[in-house]
Amino acid sequence: MLRLFPEGAALARQNRSFVRRAVRFLGAHSDVRQFVDIGSGYPTGGHVHEIAEKDPLVNRRPVHVVYIDNDLSVVEFGRSLLAEYGTADRHTYICGDFRDPDLWKQVLATGRIDPDKPVCLLAASMLHFIEDAWTPLEAIKRRLCAGSYLLVSHVTDAEGAASETDPQDRSAVDVYTQSTAHYVGVRSREQIERFFHGWQMIEPGLVPLPEWRPEMSEPVGEPADHSRLVGGLARKVRIGGCH
Ligand SMILES: C[S@@+](CC[C@H](N)C(=O)[O-])C[C@H]1O[C@@H](n2cnc3c(N)ncnc32)[C@H](O)[C@@H]1O
Repeated sequence: MLRLFPEGAALARQNRSFVRRAVRFLGAHSDVRQFVDIGSGYPTGGHVHEIAEKDPLVNRRPVHVVYIDNDLSVVEFGRSLLAEYGTADRHTYICGDFRDPDLWKQVLATGRIDPDKPVCLLAASMLHFIEDAWTPLEAIKRRLCAGSYLLVSHVTDAEGAASETDPQDRSAVDVYTQSTAHYVGVRSREQIERFFHGWQMIEPGLVPLPEWRPEMSEPVGEPADHSRLVGGLARKVRIGGCH
């Protein structure tokens, strides 16, 4: 895939760097100690628990993490890494599908997540694989306590980034789609903002990934003014039930 779509490596690095910066941010500015990483993929650039618990730039503290992927080979590899580098009573991998209405029951059945405490839900570079991603995401958001966070990064046609009508961009997306055997929905800024609906965006809002709090990062060497991926972090502020 990288031979056909060399930009993919830079995007993957930008994406992992964004996740690292967001986890650092939460370590410095929140009490969140629970993470659910949906579409976690292969843990290139470090698992979330490694960043939260070991990164020298973070307020290191034990965290509970449930990693989810619907690709069994990813899950099996992730489990083998967790067996070596994880802590069984806090970190686990499950094979589950984001679109499954019972996914949250599966998450709670792991016993790693306390439903009465805030959770950071990560959907990093995965919602573009889902055709109607808003419905399942809203169902999960409703289950989370006030004080929870949502992280999203997504392929976009927003300004300065990919355009669905640009033939070069379109062919890159086609290569990505063929090589992952999944739908890739290049969405507009407005469509991506809808994922955060009802939650309070954390500054600087939804931006090209290199522009999201670069001060929380080691330099990644990528141009900061152009990315096909945008991302953001939002907080649930409404006082309400968790279930
Ligand atoms: C591009 S990778 C992103 C990996 C990781 N989140 C990151 O930011 O580096 C997307 C992952 O989402 C997973 N995925 C795709 N559709 C999914 C679904 N419906 N439910 C759960 N995982 C899914 C894929 O198997 C893949 O591992």
